Amino acid sequence: MFTKLAGVAGLLVSLAAAQASTTQRVIPTLSPQVDAAPSLTPTVYDPVAPNAQQCPGYTASNPQNTSSGFTADLTLAGARCQAYGNDVNDLTLEVQYQSKDRLNVKIYPKHITPENSTQYILPSSLVMQPEWDGKTTAGDSDLALTWTNEPTFQFKITRSSNGEELFSTYGHVIVYEDQFLELVTNMVENYNVYGLAENIHDWRLGNNYTQTFWATDSGNTVDGNVYGTFPWYQETRYNAGGNTTSHGVYARNALGQEWLLRENNITYRTLGGSFDLYFLSGQNADGSSSALTTIQQFTQDCVGVPAMQQYWTFGFHQCRWGYENVSVLQSVVAGYRDANIPLECMWNDIDIYDLYRDFTNDPNTYPSPELLAFIASLHANGQHYVPIVDSNIYTPNPDNASDAYAPYERGAALGTFIRDPTTGDFYIGDNWPGFSVWADWLVQSSRDWWTSELAKWYNDTSFDGIWIDLSEPSSFCVGSCGNGRLNENPVHPPFLLPNDPYQANYNYPEGFNVSNATEAASVTSAAASQASYLASHTLLPVPVTTTQGRTEPTPGVKNLNFPPYVLNAVQAGHSLLKGTVAPNATHNDAYNTTEYYMHNLFGYQISNATYQALLAVFPNKRPFTVGRSTFAGSGRFTAHWGGDNTSTWGSMFLSISQALTFMMSGLPMFGADTCGFSGNTDNDLCSRWMSLSAFFPFYRNHNVKATISQEAYRWSSVAEASRRAMSVRYSLLTYMYTLFYYAHTQGDTVMRALAWEFPNDASLAGTYTQFMLGPSLLITPVLVPNVESANGVFPGIGEGTNWYDWYTLQPVVAQAHENVTLSAPITHINVHVRGGAILPLQAPAYTTAETRANPYSLLVALDESGQASGSLYLDDGESLVQEATKLVQFSYTNNCLSTTINGTYHAAPPLANGK
Ligand code: GLC
Repeated sequence: MFTKLAGVAGLLVSLAAAQASTTQRVIPTLSPQVDAAPSLTPTVYDPVAPNAQQCPGYTASNPQNTSSGFTADLTLAGARCQAYGNDVNDLTLEVQYQSKDRLNVKIYPKHITPENSTQYILPSSLVMQPEWDGKTTAGDSDLALTWTNEPTFQFKITRSSNGEELFSTYGHVIVYEDQFLELVTNMVENYNVYGLAENIHDWRLGNNYTQTFWATDSGNTVDGNVYGTFPWYQETRYNAGGNTTSHGVYARNALGQEWLLRENNITYRTLGGSFDLYFLSGQNADGSSSALTTIQQFTQDCVGVPAMQQYWTFGFHQCRWGYENVSVLQSVVAGYRDANIPLECMWNDIDIYDLYRDFTNDPNTYPSPELLAFIASLHANGQHYVPIVDSNIYTPNPDNASDAYAPYERGAALGTFIRDPTTGDFYIGDNWPGFSVWADWLVQSSRDWWTSELAKWYNDTSFDGIWIDLSEPSSFCVGSCGNGRLNENPVHPPFLLPNDPYQANYNYPEGFNVSNATEAASVTSAAASQASYLASHTLLPVPVTTTQGRTEPTPGVKNLNFPPYVLNAVQAGHSLLKGTVAPNATHNDAYNTTEYYMHNLFGYQISNATYQALLAVFPNKRPFTVGRSTFAGSGRFTAHWGGDNTSTWGSMFLSISQALTFMMSGLPMFGADTCGFSGNTDNDLCSRWMSLSAFFPFYRNHNVKATISQEAYRWSSVAEASRRAMSVRYSLLTYMYTLFYYAHTQGDTVMRALAWEFPNDASLAGTYTQFMLGPSLLITPVLVPNVESANGVFPGIGEGTNWYDWYTLQPVVAQAHENVTLSAPITHINVHVRGGAILPLQAPAYTTAETRANPYSLLVALDESGQASGSLYLDDGESLVQEATKLVQFSYTNNCLSTTINGTYHAAPPLANGK
């Protein structure tokens, strides 16, 4: 086993150097005080918070049948209770049997429209709104709604075929206030609920969990709000007699919200907007229901199928924050080539920028001619290049003509940035470049400006895709802190950066102290020395924060920055003002919509705008954009990476559940920062992680600045593990691509939970230590340090399923439910093929293009009755609208392989052999 010593030694040297030169250290020019916000008590932890279930609820009247269902009036059934907002007296209930498998319940204010909005009803122009299919009625729906006024309005959704209750507010009141909605559904005992992405949590969410949605730049906080908002869950019930059922619930509302999963019920709370609930039956034609069908119904019909990706994007990507110049990029590319580890795409982080400003190249380290020549050499080798684009736009110092920044000037001339309501001028927060503004995606001029800036930058940086970062959107100060201070620009962020003195990172993965005892001891002592220095020196003032009590609802007034209901947001003090643009910032649309309503959609919109911009730069080419903040439906425009994880085994493990929730949320082009972002990795973790991520759709190694390097060639074991895993991945690229075709056309999942593929096995309900890639491959990764084996089950054994080892093609011998110990030396990841599968393969080569030019072969893995089937989708791999495609269905029965072919796309490589 080889260990990287240079990195540790390097850190020790840099600490010594830093300590010797404290006078030279960079001191933030912006005081941390700019980030001070009042500290609040989250309502879920507030012992004296009002109980909204004591509100009076509503009475339904005047039911009117419509062609698709019925409407009714809802009237507040008592005195206003003002729990967390001003009660809305009159509501409209609208029930639509939208299709056989989907029932919609909308509740919204009777007298309020978006135009005179005190409520913001999410328009279909922003987020897809499922509609009636024009034919379904209550009589032919899989689902039925019943309601009562006893004692107040309550409703329940049942399965028409057997009366199974799927959702029920019986026993609870509905609360509808201008800044607070609440609805409670009863749940079965020990319910199995999945979804509510984005979260870093167990795959099965459990019944003691609160999911907060408020997009935030705060790394991978376990059990907290993260970057994305997907207000939908899927529930599975393992009924007696092996009859497993599934259904789903999507709550189309983009406001800050909380889902309280408790023992017998789920409470859904939002900071306003409307109830727009979609109940999905999960039913198949034969009346059975399944998770996979429920997920299809959500993806296809509620949010839209994910974008089809270009073929090359399934290759391996290398990124890091800290690639200082073009020669470093060149040496990384050469490092991969010399180690014969496939590298498809090189990335640039903010190091590329001049003074951290979007759409610029540092003239000293990334001069355009040099960068363009580098990218041309990548392209000549069939490789690709993706740079970062941050969501903030630098706002120059008006007193310094040499500070002019053209992208800002052009946007400002169009008036296209979000505004500060107190001055009416642009809202000026802070980010990497200094005081910054944010584009207002609600206006067309912003989107056009974005396209034009990206197109201009393309001339200096001939990218193949765009990485959108900080799209929560992230701001490093509270409020419009640059207001009146622009002449201080450029300012250093109000915190120390990873490579500042006394910020050396001494974190290593769990188990490093066992595998690398000597180095671990040096690291521990260096960490102690740094900690003791920091304990006795104040490098930066700590922001003074005040504690703020609960805001009381005030008639006629909405408190956007401090709503009475306090979300359990992860940022220190839980204030909505922290780390982002303030909720009261306004847009330039006709209604001056506030960020309060738009916050969770910024990432969705910038991804959409970038998708459109890339289409303008590359007409008819599938845009490749990878975004950080996402919302339900983002998969139509963007891929997503899991954000700032850590180089720990725990983080690697949780990336599987994070991935599975995205697979079920219409965003399958997902991957985590492989080998870990924050902290130092080690060869054991990085070997295992490079192997694991090879089976995630988006496969990228990314690392923070000022930690040890972690490219796959840095350790011999990581290099060998990567070559082996990539050889499996590249052999199967065409299988992965075919899975994407099915995701794109019918909302299928790509990575799959074992529970989805083996729905009748209740023991798999919470499993994510193993997962499947499509229906046919079982991945059993090593998830703990310093071992040479992995444990896993072979689902379906004893009930008609058989398995083969991918590498040896030997049948698996195991008992039903046996927890099998599999050999897993450091360079090996266990992959098994399900009997009954036909997998199209190509010999793996250095790039996806070279692989794609190799002859096809077929792997036929027979099931217990000697049969198998599979499919292969082919097209040109890049066009949005294809001239021709081909879908080949393979079937093997009675010792005979047959094919059915649809479409005329001609793939040049022949079918050479089979095994
Ligand atoms: C954010 C991103 C991370 C990136 C860093 C510097 O933390 O999530 O991936 O490396 O910013 O741009």
